[in-house]
Amino acid sequence: MNQQLQNLLTELEAFGGANDASTSDRSQRMLNITHDTGLFLSFLVRTSLAKRVLEIGTSNGYSTLWLAQAAKSVGGKVTTVELSDTKVELARTTFGRSELADVIDLFHGEAGQFLASSDSESFDFIFLDSERSEYLAWWPEIKRVLRRGGSLVVDNATSHAQELAEFIALVSSLPDYVSVVVPIGNGEFIATHSSD
Ligand SMILES: C[S@@+](CC[C@H](N)C(=O)[O-])C[C@H]1O[C@@H](n2cnc3c(N)ncnc32)[C@H](O)[C@@H]1O
Repeated sequence: MNQQLQNLLTELEAFGGANDASTSDRSQRMLNITHDTGLFLSFLVRTSLAKRVLEIGTSNGYSTLWLAQAAKSVGGKVTTVELSDTKVELARTTFGRSELADVIDLFHGEAGQFLASSDSESFDFIFLDSERSEYLAWWPEIKRVLRRGGSLVVDNATSHAQELAEFIALVSSLPDYVSVVVPIGNGEFIATHSSD
């Protein structure tokens, strides 16, 4: 990773930490993934050679940068979905300051609608970090748009284990998925569609 991107990530980490500590209003918080989680996502995208990456929940674009630099390194790109007008503006600024804007498509809209309008098996890798209460409802479409052999990563698997319990139990119970919770950052639930 180049120094300019490292500096931008460090700046966003400081901004997110200070901002989130200063407000209890969830809509004003950045709620960024941890640095370790960024490294982990980068590792997964690179090793799986995932070219078509989807992120649900952009916020100000911190996690998108991790996904984008990894996707770019394997010749891919990231589509990221965000509902909030304010967050979309912040993310646009973030992407404009990076050298990754050419591999990021920012979709300003509701994730459920985005998923429903996406083609089947159109993504190799999906990172889910959004409104947790919606995940169960979104699952049939997530399952449809993730290609066979593709991977789903869900943040907050340990920090909000109770809220994700039903979703994780459902995906873990499916015989055609292999899944595990990895204790990195806020806990990452990973599921991959096995083709055997
Ligand atoms: C936890 S934050 C994402 C943090 C980001 N992934 C990061 O680590 O930098 C969740 C984001 O999901 C967005 N969101 C909530 N409900 C949504 C929906 N139905 N469709 C799209 N985005 C949504 C919120 O506005 C918020 O910015």
